[in-house]
Amino acid sequence: MGKTKNTSQIALNTLKEKHQIWHNPLLISCKNGLLTKEDFSYLFSQYYFYSKNFTKLISAGMINFDDDKHRAKLSQNLWEESGEKDIELRHSELFRKFLINELGIDITSILFEEYTLYFFKQYLDLCLYSGTAESAAILSFATEGIISKLYTIFKQGLLNVGIKETGVEFFTQHIICDDDHALTLEEIALSYQHEENWFNRCKNAIIKALDLRDIFFTHIHKTLQLKKLNQLVERASTPANFNIEKYDLKKLKNPVNETNNKLYFNENLTENIKFTVDRIPISPDILDPRILCIPPGFNNEFHRHAHETIFFVIEGIGRVIIDNESIPIKPLDTVFVPRWVQHQTINTGKTELKIFAVTDYNFTKRFPKNTEQIYRLNKENVAIKT
Ligand SMILES: [Fe+2]
Ligand SMILES: [Fe+2]
Repeated sequence: MGKTKNTSQIALNTLKEKHQIWHNPLLISCKNGLLTKEDFSYLFSQYYFYSKNFTKLISAGMINFDDDKHRAKLSQNLWEESGEKDIELRHSELFRKFLINELGIDITSILFEEYTLYFFKQYLDLCLYSGTAESAAILSFATEGIISKLYTIFKQGLLNVGIKETGVEFFTQHIICDDDHALTLEEIALSYQHEENWFNRCKNAIIKALDLRDIFFTHIHKTLQLKKLNQLVERASTPANFNIEKYDLKKLKNPVNETNNKLYFNENLTENIKFTVDRIPISPDILDPRILCIPPGFNNEFHRHAHETIFFVIEGIGRVIIDNESIPIKPLDTVFVPRWVQHQTINTGKTELKIFAVTDYNFTKRFPKNTEQIYRLNKENVAIKT
């Protein structure tokens, strides 16, 4: 457009940029590469309801705008949404193809959650019944105006789980063209500036619309966590749901000196840090046992994490610092380290300190922010498969 933005336009854009939706745990997890392909399948199955009904929102604007020129501008947006001359290129169809081809989703079997239906109904009602200026403000600042930033986050997450650039074309296209749609709609919204209390009315409408989307994303995020827990609950609660064939019975025993399965190491001599963590190569549902080795005179990092741990000292002597407490340790001692508490282990002896540590990491890693990469000091030293 190249036009200078006026103060109100800048203020409403700032409002959008500063909204809490950008701190939503779903988007943070996506940004941090913590969503799996399965997570995306669920997320975009629900988002599909929004995608396939999106033109209803534009139509709601059409119904509201009194100026036929405004409606004409919006109809150009609808024309693009509808694939222009080729109806098979309509955006909802492109999204459907993305679901089928990239995520392997059977469209006919998608069950839309109550919260998804509620989100769209409320959003459509906002566009229809909030008022004309409000409707334009919602469609510009809170809808088209966030797509470029939102889809950049989604696209990066999808690339992270191995989907090719060609597979995320739907998102790339919208990152490029929706800013123009937003500007056209912003101009329409600004044409109502002379109306009484215009700014506050637009501001409130934008916040309401962003809040609705924020709540929708929170529901998706909570459901993703519950789905992971449910698999565990099913296996633990019903013998028939547990399959012993998951384990190689000949590999259940692991001699302590033969783990050879590096999980993490760090060496930072200014902080006296030198240690290795090896994972015992089995993968229980909840437990994740490791072997911690610290050479004489060194310690590991002062750190904390979501998993709780029981230490069993195999050989060597030292101290475990838990919060403000310093606990002396010797062979055959056990020490319990609760979740999230700051702790550190120090080798005070003349031989290696070797500790068997049983954690519940295979449980806590299901929740974002709790992976090894998050809590270790030297991220580059974390083995990829955590
Ligand atoms: Fe679109
Ligand atoms: Fe630890």
